[in-house]
Amino acid sequence: MTKTIELKGVQQRFHARGTAGGYLTAVDDASFTLSAEPAQVTSLVGQSGSGKSTIARNVLGLQKPTAGDVLYNGKDIFQLSRAEYDDYRRNVQPVFQDPYAIFNPFYRVDRVLWKAVKKFGLASTREAGLALIEESLRAVKLEPERVLGRYPHQLSGGQRQRVMLARVHMLRPAFIIADEPVSMLDAQVRKLFLDILLDFQRDHGMTTLFITHDLSTVYYLGGDVMVITKGVIVERGPVDTVMHEPSHPYTKLLLDSIPQPDPDQRWTDRIEVDELGEEEKAEAKLASTPETPVI
Ligand SMILES: Nc1ncnc2c1ncn2[C@@H]1O[C@H](COP(=O)(O)OP(=O)(O)OP(=O)(O)O)[C@@H](O)[C@H]1O
Ligand SMILES: [Mg+2]
Repeated sequence: MTKTIELKGVQQRFHARGTAGGYLTAVDDASFTLSAEPAQVTSLVGQSGSGKSTIARNVLGLQKPTAGDVLYNGKDIFQLSRAEYDDYRRNVQPVFQDPYAIFNPFYRVDRVLWKAVKKFGLASTREAGLALIEESLRAVKLEPERVLGRYPHQLSGGQRQRVMLARVHMLRPAFIIADEPVSMLDAQVRKLFLDILLDFQRDHGMTTLFITHDLSTVYYLGGDVMVITKGVIVERGPVDTVMHEPSHPYTKLLLDSIPQPDPDQRWTDRIEVDELGEEEKAEAKLASTPETPVI
């Protein structure tokens, strides 16, 4: 059976002072399906505060939605049997923005990898475990001898992030939930990271939900994209289609306000954004604030 993650009408409200009704709706009626076969990359793009991380937390079971369902292989993730839950924990792996927060500064980075070996029973001997760790480090273009034995602060941000990818490589999950994993990396390291995700898709059949505020990253990854604004997924489809024929004014505005990422300049046509209010224009500009481009 093909593994799937399905969101059905997910709504997430939070108590918030000074808002109408005393709450804000961070995610409103979000529905989508991620399938393990064929492996795919689906990006979720939107400005800061649009609800992206909330959706990631819903998918990872860290936050129970106020309404709607998150299903893993058709079953509510909050009502899985022990065996189903173990399968879900192994097959839905997060990668977050700042791996430094995940590493314990007092332990060598090896520990994160050994913990995965032990928790998931990946090897029966120490030699086999070490061989697996080394293979996975090489798969993410890290030299084991330059990483093992080091403390987190002795590695660069890009190396720390790739150690987390090595952990993913060891586990071979069906799904990777990556929340802004490259936003703290510079252009060169960012490209390396994205290429590894694409390798994982091609070589190991991993499906990634890639969360970002940066359209040029989406463009680089290809696959499918969902555009979210104010908690609502307003547009979705293959990246090429959405970027060349955006149907929602917010997407048009996002595309219009980023530096041209496509060398053949396919999107230079003037895009009318008069449908949007001043506030939305300002937000869209904010969301696409030029930063280090990917390519
Ligand atoms: N635990 C919480 N309690 C109250 N409000 C929250 C909570 N988590 C998120 N929010 C609010 O929900 C909205 C969506 O937040 P979320 O973190 O999902 O956005 P985001 O798209 O990931 O933003 P960013 O790009 O800055 O990471 C924001 O208004 C945020 O302040
Ligand atoms: Mg976020």
